[in-house]
This record gives sequence, structure tokens and C-alpha cells, in this order.
Amino acid sequence: MQQWWRDAVLYQIYPRSFADSDGDGVGDLPGITARLGHIADLGADGIWLSPFYASPWADGGYDVSDFRAVDPRLGTLEDFDAMVAAAHGLGLRVMVDIVPNHTSEEHPWFRDALAAGPGSSERDLYVFRDGRGEDGGLPPTNWRSTFGGPAWTRVEDGQWYLHLFAREQPDLNWDEPRVREEFRGILRFWSGRGVDGFRIDVAYALVKDLREPLRDLVLVDGGRFEDIAANPDHPLLDRPGVHEVYRDWRRVLAEFDPPRATVGEVWLPGDRRRLYTRPDELDQAFNFDFLRTEWDADSYRRVIDASIADAAHVGTAPTWVVGNHDVVRPVSVLGLPRGTDQGTWLLSDGRDPEPDLELGTRRARALALLELALPGSAYVYQGEELGLPEAAGLPAEALEDPRWERSGRTDKGRDGCRVPLPWTPDGPSYGFGAGGSWLPQPEGWGRWSVEAESGDPGSVLNLYRRALAHRPDFCADRTLVWDDTLNLGPVLAFWRGPGVLVLVNTGREPVELPPGEVLVASTELDGRLPGDAAVWLRRV
Ligand code: GLC
Repeated sequence: MQQWWRDAVLYQIYPRSFADSDGDGVGDLPGITARLGHIADLGADGIWLSPFYASPWADGGYDVSDFRAVDPRLGTLEDFDAMVAAAHGLGLRVMVDIVPNHTSEEHPWFRDALAAGPGSSERDLYVFRDGRGEDGGLPPTNWRSTFGGPAWTRVEDGQWYLHLFAREQPDLNWDEPRVREEFRGILRFWSGRGVDGFRIDVAYALVKDLREPLRDLVLVDGGRFEDIAANPDHPLLDRPGVHEVYRDWRRVLAEFDPPRATVGEVWLPGDRRRLYTRPDELDQAFNFDFLRTEWDADSYRRVIDASIADAAHVGTAPTWVVGNHDVVRPVSVLGLPRGTDQGTWLLSDGRDPEPDLELGTRRARALALLELALPGSAYVYQGEELGLPEAAGLPAEALEDPRWERSGRTDKGRDGCRVPLPWTPDGPSYGFGAGGSWLPQPEGWGRWSVEAESGDPGSVLNLYRRALAHRPDFCADRTLVWDDTLNLGPVLAFWRGPGVLVLVNTGREPVELPPGEVLVASTELDGRLPGDAAVWLRRV
């Protein structure tokens, strides 16, 4: 069986922000096709595309109005086919996002449900309920939307519908066979067009406990709603029934040769996350524990051991991520004092406290060498390979993330990691396109451009290229062996493959380097490994 994903490096593209071919300020599929060489040169094995489907963009494309169409601002199905062909021609796999938890409010199903009225079979495709209180004027439960505000919105005839995200993203009812059949069709549609796999959005929330009476959530910790840790029988998250969906999908994806791969977005503790990757379910799940680990050797050791053990338990390969389109970029996180509340920091436009970007970059370089050395697959978010910091100073009027308005302007949201990429040191939108850029690029963004970094041997880009060029030296070997003589205090030390030693110094003081040939180093070495640095050595 071909399981190419087990040690692959996937490059995540946020299509609106990657490359703009027609100068309208928004990235598009022909832009991606034209720039695939960058990803092949980097040495990645494939791409994962965030949604490019027809969408009103209430949530940047995660609100889909037609799951089988390309949004006209991003191109056409022919452009998609051309992109897949070009990627395959370069030896790159293509994974696409699939968004099964909800549709856009503009999806024909939702429009029909609104028109058909209470009690109709059209409404059964979503979660419509009567309200509580006099005249049903109160939402059916106290459930909250992830973006802020109630998870219910009332429609004209008085009923309410459920949306775990923005109001414009009504949740589908996965108890409905028609919903299940529709998604089988969507999987077959894109698989038939040659995609190699799917990233599954909010994979752990599709199935809800919709038995009457619906259960309110309980407030814990003085104000937060219970999560899965506080209530293992949570009505909205990680319901046992969700696993049947993935067993079914596995059978559908096995109709293709090779079977199409899957990676789930599963924000759950490891012991519950791993259930999604049992042999008859998804292939992989994102490991967000690694992303959330502080810059500290012991914490990394614990998370790495647990992640490898969790994956081994169900026979899959671990995944590693340090960023994505939903979180603050690692260069900025690692340059902030430990424990900084990222939301508050973003609200200060990234000024309070001021991140130390030099330190953040040093650490992000070392973290890249750690991530890319670990057994399993790595997902690199566009811009990480350039060392882009968070664009934390975006003006309020530029913000598009629904979190901003939904939270009553208390959560600045995720736009700061979605600013279009710089390709050239200067020029219109730094080479992103011939026109502007849908989110303003900060002053001096060109410093991180692909062109500027290509010519600089010490750049983050060239570090990634060197690391990915050496990764095949050991990545087929799926073991990691800690070196207990070196693996001390702030230093992580482990062996990979036939004799590659990886050292990561999370402390500030330099440590002696054991003998070996330096394959890649995150910084200059002088016989010692400085603090906040990492190296791959070949045993001599
Ligand atoms: C996932 C996506 C995020 C989106 C949400 C709702 O968490 O990664 O960007 O807002 O789902 O679809």
C-alpha cells in the first residue's frame, strides 16, 4: 500500500494570499500554478490548499456555497486541473481542504431551508429549533460560537439555527443521510480530479448530541464554558458517532488508486485525538500540542514522546506543525516573553510587549530544524520558510476575520498570519501581484521576500532548503532515539536514521558540540552550539 504521507513535508497554501496572477489584489489558482517552482525548489513533497471553493468569504472561504466549484475570483475548474497537473509534473502531491461541519448561508441547501419553513425536510439538513422563553425569543441553548456571541441565530419565521462559527456558517446535521451522501459525492468529485488527499476542517465536531432536550453547557473556571476536558460527554465535540463518518469516508477514498489520504483538524487531547487515526478511520490528525509547546527542552521532550507514542498506538505517523492560517506566526510567538497573552498582544497592535524578532527568528530557525528532523510528516505554512513575523499592526478597518466583529472587537483575529506573501524586495505588493493586496502588507515586507532571501545564504529560506535537501538522509527511518549522554538540561539530543544526531539548545548558553560532520545548522557554529540554536550532525 502506498502511504506517501507518512514522512512527507506538505506546504500549506492560503490561496488568497499566495500569489495573484491578475492584479486584483487576491491570490488565485493560476498564481499558485505559476509559483509552484518555489515549493518544489524548497524540497516539499506536496501542497495543502485552504479552501478555494465558491464562497462569500464571511470566513475567508471556510464558508462554502458550492463545494464543487472554484470561486470565480480564484479561477475556474480548468485552472484547478492545470494546477494539479503542474504540481504532479513537479512531483508534488495535492491535498485540498474539505469543510463538512457547515456550509455558507448562501449554499442552495440553506436558502431552500429558509424558504421551506419549520418542519420541512429541507430544514432537517441543518439544525433548526424553536427558541426558549416567551414567543421562543431566547436561543434554544446557551451554546456559544467559536468566534463570539451565541451559536444560534433567529430567522424570520422565529426558528433558530445552529452555527458553531460565524452566523454565515450554518452547521449541517450529520444525523441526516442526505448530508452523508452529499459529502461522499464531494470526496469522489475531487478525488476524480486527481487530488491526493484531504484536510478535514473541524473534523471532531460534525456530529452533535441533538437528542431533546438539548443540553446547555456548564460554566466552569469562573466563566468559561466546559470543554472536552471538563465534560468528556460534551454535546458538541468529539461525539462517538463522528468516527462512523470517517470509517465511511475511508471506504469511499479506497475506491481510488492509490487511496486518497486524509488529515484531520482535531483540537483534542492526544488520547482522544488518536482515536481518529485508527486503521479504519483517518490517516493522520494534526498535532497541535507541538504547536503550543513553549520554548523549553523538557516540554518538547514530553510532547514529542507522547505524540510518537499516540501515533504508534494506532499505527499511524505523527504530524508536526508550528503554525497555520489560524494562529500567530512562530517568529513572533517565540520573540515574546513567555506567557504573553496573544490576544491582548494583538489588541495592542503587537506593541505591548514589543516582540524581540531577532530572538524569535533565531528560535524559529532552530524550531524548524527540530520539526523537520522528527519522524512523521511536517506541515509548513506559507511564509514560515521565509521567517515571516505576524503582521500584528494591521489597522482595524483592514481586518476581515469574522472574529473581530463577532467578538465585539475584543479579538483581533487571524488576519496577521494571512497577509499576502512578498516575492520581490519591492514593487507593487512586493511581487504578490501587479496590483495591491487584500490585506495591507507592512512596511519593509520585501525584506522577507523569496527573491531577497534566495540570494542570501544565511536566510531562513536557504535554511529550509538545506534542511529539506538533507531530510531524505534519514526520514525513511521512522525511529527517534534520545541520546541520554547529551540530552540534558536545556539541550534536546536525538538520533535519526543511520547516524544523524540532532541537537537543539533551548537555553541561552553555548554547549560543546560532539564530533561529526555538520549537515545543517540554524546559526554559525564555532565548535560549540550557541543558545537558541540547532544542528544536524552526521556521525563520523
Ligand atoms: C477551522 C479553520 C478555520 C475556520 C474554522 C471554521 O478551524 O482552520 O480557519 O475559521 O475551521 O471553518
